[in-house]
Amino acid sequence: MRTIVITGGTDGMGAALARHFLRAGDRIVVIGRSRAKFDALLATVTSDDRSAAARAEFLAADLSLVADSRRVVEHLQAKHAWIDALVLAASFIRQHRHITAEGREASWVLFFVSKYLFVTGLAAPLCAAERPVIVNTAVPGTRADAIDFDDLEMSEGFTFARSNAQQRRANELLGILAVTDNPDLAYVTWGPTRLVRSSFAGEVGKSMKIAAAVLGTLLGQRPDVAVRPIIGIVDAPTPGRAAYRGSKELALTVGDHDDEDAARLATAVEDQLR
Ligand SMILES: NC(=O)c1ccc[n+]([C@@H]2O[C@H](COP(=O)([O-])OP(=O)(O)OC[C@H]3O[C@@H](n4cnc5c(N)ncnc54)[C@H](OP(=O)(O)O)[C@@H]3O)[C@@H](O)[C@H]2O)c1
Repeated sequence: MRTIVITGGTDGMGAALARHFLRAGDRIVVIGRSRAKFDALLATVTSDDRSAAARAEFLAADLSLVADSRRVVEHLQAKHAWIDALVLAASFIRQHRHITAEGREASWVLFFVSKYLFVTGLAAPLCAAERPVIVNTAVPGTRADAIDFDDLEMSEGFTFARSNAQQRRANELLGILAVTDNPDLAYVTWGPTRLVRSSFAGEVGKSMKIAAAVLGTLLGQRPDVAVRPIIGIVDAPTPGRAAYRGSKELALTVGDHDDEDAARLATAVEDQLR
């Protein structure tokens, strides 16, 4: 039986994946903040298959807190000898810079540091799987120079666009670290082809909220439709790094010093975490 770990698995695309893999007979571990949402998604599956509950686990965590990511990773290391697929889909969009109770910048931690802790901390159980795969829902294809290595939490000049570009690039570089440690691993950065009608969890201005609601209703894809390419990637992973928009494979962004930048990023994040 495969074990599939999904951060942000209580809503939107993460929940669509959780439902799919549970129905397919896999063991799922869902990480999010809301147990009520998890119970509701589980109920949609157990109404047809009561035995599914025994294959589903929920871990409550606020992944914008480093302590919560560490706790969950330690739990997964101790409890799961192998992990076949790790899907990173937790999302809470903040238009403005926000400092958490730990004194760290929330978007940087949620969209990158937490993912770094999961990817590096779960290397052993991923290595133990036959065909391991990480799908990181960080939209690929941003600028190669989007990272401010000297100010990762953007204490100066934070904008949503800068913060978003930086985490997307960092998540591409994270793939270099991941597959260097485990050449059998598939590491995919993935984005949908168009807007997905999800919960759009976040603290955004009125205009962004209205635009997302209107565009989502008019043009948005249903989450269960949008995730079909992810299901294909998880079911037939190819070792190495790749980038996808929907089911279309894209060329990886190549900068002048990707390996050095990946190593520099790891050093900078480890320094932050000390
Ligand atoms: N929707 C789109 O059009 C679109 C476009 C491009 C990229 N993406 C990416 O695709 C992924 C999924 O997006 P989505 O729109 O489907 O998400 P969504 O519906 O907004 O759901 C977000 C998920 O993240 C969880 N979450 C939020 N804050 C969290 C926190 N602090 N700690 C732990 N979990 C947290 C939520 O669970 P709780 O409520 O239980 O905390 C929920 O399960 C994201 O990475 C997003 O950036 C989406």
